[in-house]
Amino acid sequence: MKPQKIKENIFWVGAVDWDRRLFDSLIQLPDGTSYNSYLVYGKDKTALFDTVDPSKTDILMSNLSDVPNIDFVISHHSEQDHSGAIPDVLKKYKNAKVITTPKGKGLLMDHLSVPEDKIITVNDGETISLGDKTIEFIHTPWVHWPETMVSFLREDRILFSCDLFGSHLAASDLFFNEYWRVCDAAKRYYAEVMMPFRTTIKKHLEKIEKYPIDIIAPSHGPLYKEHQCIIESHKEWVSDKVSNTVIIPYVSMHNSTQLMVDYLTDSLVKKDIMVERFNLPVTDIGKLAISLVDAATIVVGSPTVLAGAHPLVVSAVFLANALRPKLKFASIIGSYGWAGKMTEQIKSLMSNLSVELLEGVVIKGMPKDKDYSALDRLANDILNKHRGINIG
Ligand code: FEO
Repeated sequence: MKPQKIKENIFWVGAVDWDRRLFDSLIQLPDGTSYNSYLVYGKDKTALFDTVDPSKTDILMSNLSDVPNIDFVISHHSEQDHSGAIPDVLKKYKNAKVITTPKGKGLLMDHLSVPEDKIITVNDGETISLGDKTIEFIHTPWVHWPETMVSFLREDRILFSCDLFGSHLAASDLFFNEYWRVCDAAKRYYAEVMMPFRTTIKKHLEKIEKYPIDIIAPSHGPLYKEHQCIIESHKEWVSDKVSNTVIIPYVSMHNSTQLMVDYLTDSLVKKDIMVERFNLPVTDIGKLAISLVDAATIVVGSPTVLAGAHPLVVSAVFLANALRPKLKFASIIGSYGWAGKMTEQIKSLMSNLSVELLEGVVIKGMPKDKDYSALDRLANDILNKHRGINIG
């Protein structure tokens, strides 16, 4: 898309990636994404806030074709989807300096080969002036790399938040107009990228809320004028609150685990516990990540393959463990043909989860009456545990 005006002398000059369907060769992007770059003209100086993914450099350079001079390139975050076009921008604007955090300096030199003498580092709270506009830099490490910062354009009250408050959502609208749509995309983004840093982000939100913000301009997805909704959603996601929900990621090969999952689902629903199921061979793993943001309990369902858990279960549990959700309880159900170490293997993948492990139900062959009784016992255990933390 062509440059779009946000306010007088402030423009979006980024790129919309309508067709991208995978990020980090892992994260599914059902709605594409955008790499937002912003150009701010001050009375004396001009600043570019972040760039775009290397694959979209030509679009950014085309959007800058009528821009005669850039003095500062603000690099909030060194990951390539925002820093990838910095070398090309520096090639065109010979006098431009890159502004980043002290940690960002090393990362830009390592990942983008940005020359050291082109980089100026700024401390937390430091400002630079564009003449009639002041940029204040706010360090926000671990959102989601160690060097990340955001910046506040004081006179225009715009917070450039980079990945924070971002959403992988390709859209022609500069500002969001359907909160349910952007909220879903933002929650997916938070789940897949930010959730492991929940505690740190909580502190950053408190710091940022003190600023008199009119507009939030993230580096992915739409901008926010009515930004309270996205801030409140993030406060909810980073809080310690969990919902009365059990998520069941599972695989079944010969219907045994499937019957167990079906029975456990009914048993939990009868107790007014919400269930979200993910049949892993056909699931969008991003949906599982979204559910991990709030759920109190995970029950992993697996058959036994070559004496261990099904590889898709291993992958899902490995990802859940890496995302460090605020789950409180976990259990394992499933089946085996003759023997196996499926339970031990799955437990060994949960070392990051601060969960209480509830006695699972792992059976030989197809489920019998006693196995269904055991699943009722597990559902009861979950109900009691949820009531114990006041969510049942
Ligand atoms: Fe959008 Fe962490 O890069």
